[in-house]
Amino acid sequence: MSRRVIPVADFRSLPPPAAGAAVPSPTGEVLDTLARPLKDLRISVTDRCNFRCVYCMPREVFDKNYQFLPHSALLSLEEIERVARLFVAQGVTKIRLTGGEPLLRKNVEFLIERLALLRTPQGEPLDVTLTTNGSILARKARSLKDAGLTRVTVSLDALDDALFRRMNDADFAVADVLDGIEAAHAVGLAPLKINMVVKRGTNDREIVPMARHFRGSGATLRFIEYMDVGTSNGWNMAEVLPSADVVARIAEHFPLVPLDPHSASETAQRWGYADGAGEIGVISSVTRAFCGDCTRARLSTEGKVYLCLFASMGYDLRALVRNGASDESISAAIARIWSGRTDRYSQLRGSETGPATRAERRIEMSYIGG
Ligand code: GTP
Ligand code: 5AD
Ligand code: SF4
Ligand code: SF4
Repeated sequence: MSRRVIPVADFRSLPPPAAGAAVPSPTGEVLDTLARPLKDLRISVTDRCNFRCVYCMPREVFDKNYQFLPHSALLSLEEIERVARLFVAQGVTKIRLTGGEPLLRKNVEFLIERLALLRTPQGEPLDVTLTTNGSILARKARSLKDAGLTRVTVSLDALDDALFRRMNDADFAVADVLDGIEAAHAVGLAPLKINMVVKRGTNDREIVPMARHFRGSGATLRFIEYMDVGTSNGWNMAEVLPSADVVARIAEHFPLVPLDPHSASETAQRWGYADGAGEIGVISSVTRAFCGDCTRARLSTEGKVYLCLFASMGYDLRALVRNGASDESISAAIARIWSGRTDRYSQLRGSETGPATRAERRIEMSYIGG
């Protein structure tokens, strides 16, 4: 196959200091143009993954010729910690490590140790978590917990082993992931969440078995509508199963009651099992956008800040970091970037949206980590 490189990460220049001077809210938070505070930072620590999920890193594209980022392009763990600290100074209270597969990043425990020591301006510790495919979690759960990780979210798309292997397209067994979940539970990485991306016609028959399996386990299973992220997964609306259908299918077997959100910016709507066997969540980016309260910034592996999962351009903080910028000027840049934010892609997308009709070179899920 010919050499193929997905175009990602165009550079957006930093807004000049005078143009978008950050206006702190009455509570001292930096607000974007839609009055949304900066609260969450999702940090991608590697663009590599040992899975080739069909909806994220299709093997035809992410093959042996695909050019992942070279090591020199990656922010070092110390650089990530510094940038994260400056985000925390601007209001971030939750940090999620993502990838690719974050547990493949060498010494990720060292980074977690550093992040766990950070404090908000009010002196509070952060919620430090990560989203993993679970394949090496059984080996890592203890060291992650010891490093100070609060909790963990594990992706699992099916319990049927043959189907799961087809979906991860790398021959990983369900049992490996279940072992990882069990290990996370045993060391107290809680609350534990399980993410299932639902593709109509591929794994929707697993919805009820998954619900049955995780009911009463203490873990919260969350069903994610298949999204049109990036440009390589061949997304189309016909493969999206609306969350309302997911809820209806489960409720036929196990009655559900709606639960109040924990916070306005939460991605998932919560439903409780009427018999008290725990809860599920549905993440409905396609049928019920949640941009109005989106408080999430994303930092790519190479140090670019993206203001939306569907962005095509990021702001290059690595250049500042490596050119000797002071903490004050990096902090000010973060505030300026956030205060100019207008993004609300999911709200604007119509039912006609998708790779075919939106021509921009959107970043890939595996590059920005969801
Ligand atoms: P919690 O803090 O545990 O609620 O996690 P989370 O839902 O914020 O993060 P997670 O990594 O578990 O994401 C679950 C799914 O929601 C993934 O498919 C993400 O890509 C998607 N997601 C997370 N944040 C956003 C967002 O800001 N916009 C959209 N459209 N999808 C998002
Ligand atoms: N649509 C919805 N969710 C996706 N994820 C990856 N690609 C997609 C997509 N196209 C999920 C992963 C993981 C989370 C970070 O994002 O399964 O749970
Ligand atoms: Fe890897 Fe997660 Fe993408 Fe699957 S969804 S290929 S596990 S980064
Ligand atoms: Fe936030 Fe963009 Fe997702 Fe909307 S589509 S919730 S703005 S990341």
